Amino acid sequence: MLPYAFNDSPGNTVMMLLKKLALATLFAVVLALLVLNIWGYLTLGKLAPAQNPQRDTDANRIVMIFGATGSVGDGLLQAAMEDPDVERVYVVSRRTSPRIDAAVATGKAELRLQQDFTDYSGLADILPQVNTVLWGLGTSSLNVDDTTYSRIHVDFPVAFVSAWLAARTEAPMSFHYVTGMGTDANGDSHWAREKGRAELEVAAMAAGTGLRTFGYRSAFIRPASGRANPAHYLLQALLTPGKLVISSEDLGAAMFEISARTGELPNGSLIDNADSIAYAHAYAARQR
Ligand SMILES: NC(=O)c1ccc[n+]([C@@H]2O[C@H](COP(=O)([O-])OP(=O)(O)OC[C@H]3O[C@@H](n4cnc5c(N)ncnc54)[C@H](OP(=O)(O)O)[C@@H]3O)[C@@H](O)[C@H]2O)c1
Repeated sequence: MLPYAFNDSPGNTVMMLLKKLALATLFAVVLALLVLNIWGYLTLGKLAPAQNPQRDTDANRIVMIFGATGSVGDGLLQAAMEDPDVERVYVVSRRTSPRIDAAVATGKAELRLQQDFTDYSGLADILPQVNTVLWGLGTSSLNVDDTTYSRIHVDFPVAFVSAWLAARTEAPMSFHYVTGMGTDANGDSHWAREKGRAELEVAAMAAGTGLRTFGYRSAFIRPASGRANPAHYLLQALLTPGKLVISSEDLGAAMFEISARTGELPNGSLIDNADSIAYAHAYAARQR
């Protein structure tokens, strides 16, 4: 009789309930991942890189990177350092990082410390040379209020593009802005509308000049190797079937491939996560 008496105890009932709750949570997470991956697989990927494209090897000669201390920008910097067509990298940042220090030590990169991202007069000497700008500067809408969010994600890039176009309008020039999946100028949330507004504003400014601007509506951007931890790699594995993940180095490679194909994607093109994977593959095939 003892075993049955033990099974019916209140403690055992609580354990059974907790087990059921854990199983239900696991089931919900697996279902959500499944739905997300199916959605990504079926809907992402609208652009197909041309098979035999014209490439301009000067298109990424002089590169400028914003947000290089962050998770995304760190990999963009790594991609720039590894690209043989990139001759010079200017990192514009409030502070340095181990990756920036290492890049500067090679002599290929230079750090320009900058505190005010609405005033680029301190870059006047280099802006006329710059071909490619990788913009990984940004933060989560959970970290700042709406006004600050707009300042960082709209005012900063718009002020930069304005200063750059005042210094240079001659192609090849490309501006690559990591906005994120869900960006939508008509969206429901403030962050989505503001990043969508920024994509449209920089494209409108570039129209009729030698500059092309691109918005990267990336999903999960896995930090570069060396900065990524096991949880990042697990998430990468879980999101790969739906093309919902790209590493930050591969995102940088995709940006360089899109820049170099000067006649392929027009100003204002929006690049979803599967598109950037496709261009990163094209870049990798070229390096082999
Ligand atoms: N991580 C992803 O999976 C992912 C996916 C899609 C889109 N994105 C977008 O990519 C952007 C960067 O994301 P992240 O994950 O790399 O963020 P992060 O790790 O927090 O890095 C943010 C970068 O932006 C700079 N920054 C932030 N606020 C700034 C300010 N007020 N003034 C000057 N610099 C500032 C930071 O510089 P300091 O070091 O000086 O603070 C840092 O370099 C964000 O817009 C994000 O929404 C990220």
